[in-house]
Amino acid sequence: MTKVWAHRGASGYYPENTMSSFEEAVKQKADGIELDVHLSKDGYLVVCHDETLNRTTNGKGFIKQYDLYELKQLDAGSWFDKRFKGEKIPLLEEAIDLVKRSNMELNIEIKAGSIFYPGIEEKVLKMIDKYGVRNKVIISSFDHYSLVKIKNIDKDIKTGILYTEALYKPINYMKTTGANALHPNYITLTKDVVEEAHSLGIDINTYTVNIEEHIRLIKSMNVNAIITNYPDIAKAILAE
Ligand code: G3P
Ligand code: CA
Repeated sequence: MTKVWAHRGASGYYPENTMSSFEEAVKQKADGIELDVHLSKDGYLVVCHDETLNRTTNGKGFIKQYDLYELKQLDAGSWFDKRFKGEKIPLLEEAIDLVKRSNMELNIEIKAGSIFYPGIEEKVLKMIDKYGVRNKVIISSFDHYSLVKIKNIDKDIKTGILYTEALYKPINYMKTTGANALHPNYITLTKDVVEEAHSLGIDINTYTVNIEEHIRLIKSMNVNAIITNYPDIAKAILAE
């Protein structure tokens, strides 16, 4: 059965990557949550999509320029709607705690690539084990060096290769990284890739499927998880 993972939480309805967005995902009975992590200047794992604060908070500049205390003063809700004024940037730890209490799956995307966060992989692994949720977590990234690093530290943690453009023989490539799953942009996904992956016990978790017609198309491919801003809609379509 295809699962539904709430992309940055139920971000079609609530400000992305905030606790209210994650709590709404729980209410909408998503099977999991996808979120993005960065490091603050003082080394805390914080949840935000962009490496800068400008789009989704009232702050300016790079996350890595600020200590946690400063980041926690920012408003991460008003940009979406005035109703969400005062919403905070969450710590990864706060989201893990919610996911654990709700018995959900968690896809942690490490936002390394254009910016490097020394030690982020070790910190994410430590946090997963602090809460004992490793069997519920998969770590993904567009930075595949980061995913190889994760596997070198801890071969038992699940990783997923994020990619946007179609890869040539993605499963062959995936194997060179030691990853467990492919996380393709659904636009580039084909039934052949899904079938080959499944014949080898590899999961396909595809993003970000928001249009109803496209959710129906991806449903027909029988992927493992659909990552969407609208978990309620995806759940209803999957139940049809
Ligand atoms: O993990 C799937 C998806 O979130 C990747 O793209 O830009 O939304 O982080 P982005
Ligand atoms: Ca993401």
